[in-house]
Amino acid sequence: MPIWHAIGQQLQNPRGILGVLTGMLMRVVNATPNHMAVEALEIEPRDRILELGFGPGHAIRLMVPKTPAGFVYGIDQSAVMLQQAAARNRAAIRENRVRLYQAQFENLPFADASFDKILAVNVVYFWADAPAVMREIRRVLRPGGRFCIYATERATMRNWKFAGSQTHRLYDAAALTLALRQAGFEGSQISVRKIRLAAGVQGLLATVS
Ligand SMILES: C[S@@+](CC[C@H](N)C(=O)[O-])C[C@H]1O[C@@H](n2cnc3c(N)ncnc32)[C@H](O)[C@@H]1O
Repeated sequence: MPIWHAIGQQLQNPRGILGVLTGMLMRVVNATPNHMAVEALEIEPRDRILELGFGPGHAIRLMVPKTPAGFVYGIDQSAVMLQQAAARNRAAIRENRVRLYQAQFENLPFADASFDKILAVNVVYFWADAPAVMREIRRVLRPGGRFCIYATERATMRNWKFAGSQTHRLYDAAALTLALRQAGFEGSQISVRKIRLAAGVQGLLATVS
């Protein structure tokens, strides 16, 4: 298997010792987009928050102090990421302020309107049927809740060999807006902002409220 494809697969589903290293790397490389996306969620102290694809658990850690009267739940398919995120948030889990689940985006194990805010950083690439996942998000988000996606833009990612089409689906602002519209979100609810990160990386920060 070509090395680039193997890296793409680890980002999609970190496994084994390479998955442990991938998680450690993601914690560092994805720090800025995670900070920006958490800010864009406009978290209130009582918020009930869900993160999709928490990876090493960095954003969960950022959100806990902002929700003293709420809670943060997360789902990820990777057992290795569940372990890393749990270790990073051990105290909050003990206090029952964080719950982490090994689960799939396509079938969220939560009742309708369970959350005030939903975060999805660097995960939209892996939604084989993006409108279907977004409809599932719409189901578990309370009416009037807020949802934020960060994705590195197609113009940047098409130069990254590990982000091939076997593992990653790439987005520009128009494609991301279209997927949100196809999931049933109104155009007036959607804002997609282009952001510039270090080393010329271009990102998209989409909020729906
Ligand atoms: C590139 S990592 C991003 C992690 C973190 N959000 C960050 O920005 O550092 C993508 C994460 O999504 C998870 N993931 C990918 N596809 C998934 C699916 N269908 N269901 C649940 N989790 C999934 C992977 O296990 C991985 O931890």
